[in-house]
Amino acid sequence: MIIRKNQKELEQMRRSGMLVWRILQELAKMVDEGVTTQELEAAAEKMMKDAGATPAFKGYYTPSAGSRYPYVLCTSVNEQIVHGMPSAKTKLKKGDIVSIDTGVQLDGYFGDSAITVPVGEISDSAKRLLKVTQESLELAIDKVRPGNRLFDICGTVEKHVTGNGFSVVREMVGHGIGTKLHEEPQIPNYVDRRNENPRLREGMVLAIEPMVNAGAGDMRMMPDKWTAVTKDGSVSAHFEHCVAVTANGPWVLTRP
Ligand code: MF3
Ligand code: CO
Repeated sequence: MIIRKNQKELEQMRRSGMLVWRILQELAKMVDEGVTTQELEAAAEKMMKDAGATPAFKGYYTPSAGSRYPYVLCTSVNEQIVHGMPSAKTKLKKGDIVSIDTGVQLDGYFGDSAITVPVGEISDSAKRLLKVTQESLELAIDKVRPGNRLFDICGTVEKHVTGNGFSVVREMVGHGIGTKLHEEPQIPNYVDRRNENPRLREGMVLAIEPMVNAGAGDMRMMPDKWTAVTKDGSVSAHFEHCVAVTANGPWVLTRP
C-alpha cells in the first residue's frame, strides 16, 4: 500500500527535507582536495544534532548487509555507486567525484536526498555523467503529477540515461518515504514489468534516486556488504530528491 500524506504531514516532511538540503549545501562547500569523508560525516552529524534531528541512516538495519549502517552519511567516491562509508582514510583528490547521500527524521517524518559533487577540475566524461544523471532526475520529477503512473518516472530516467550512452543500476531502487525511510512503492530507474504500475495520487511522496554508471550497469558488493561498486570500475553518479504529488504538480521537498 502506498501511504498518502495530508497537507500537515507534507509540511512536516518539508521541514525534514529542507534540513537535508541545508546539510548537503554545507557539505558541498566543504568538498575539496585533501578533505576526508570522515570530516564530512562529523560536520553532518553536528548539524543534525544542532537541529534536534535524528539521523535516518545511522543504525538503519538492512537485511542484505546483515548489520546496522554505522554513519549518518553515505559518501561514495568514483566507482562506488552508493553506501560508501565515510572514513578518515578516504582523502578526496582532484578529479574525484563524491556522492553524498543523507537523511534525517524530524518529529517522526523523514527526508532523504543525495548529490554528487566534483573535487576540483574533473574530466569531461565525468562532467557529462553528472549532468546527465541530474537531468534524468529533473525530467523524472516533472512526471510526478496526479494521474501519471510509476512507470512514467522509471521510464523517463531510463530513457535519458541510456539515450546518452550511460547505464542505470538495476539492483538499487528509489522508494516511497514518510514516517519510515523506506515505504512502498519501490522506484527502479528502469521500467521493471514484473512490478505493478500504480497511478500517482495526491499526497504520495517519492524518493527518486537515479544511480548511473559511466560504463556497464553491473554492480558488485564489497566484502563490507554495504559499499556497492561498478563491476567494470567505471565511475558512478547519484542524485536524489523527495517529491510530493500535489494537485499543482511536483513539490520537491528537499530543496527551496
Ligand atoms: N538514500 C539511500 C536509501 O534511501 C540510503 C540508505 S543508507 C542506509 O536507500 F543506511 F540507510 F541504508
Ligand atoms: Co533514498
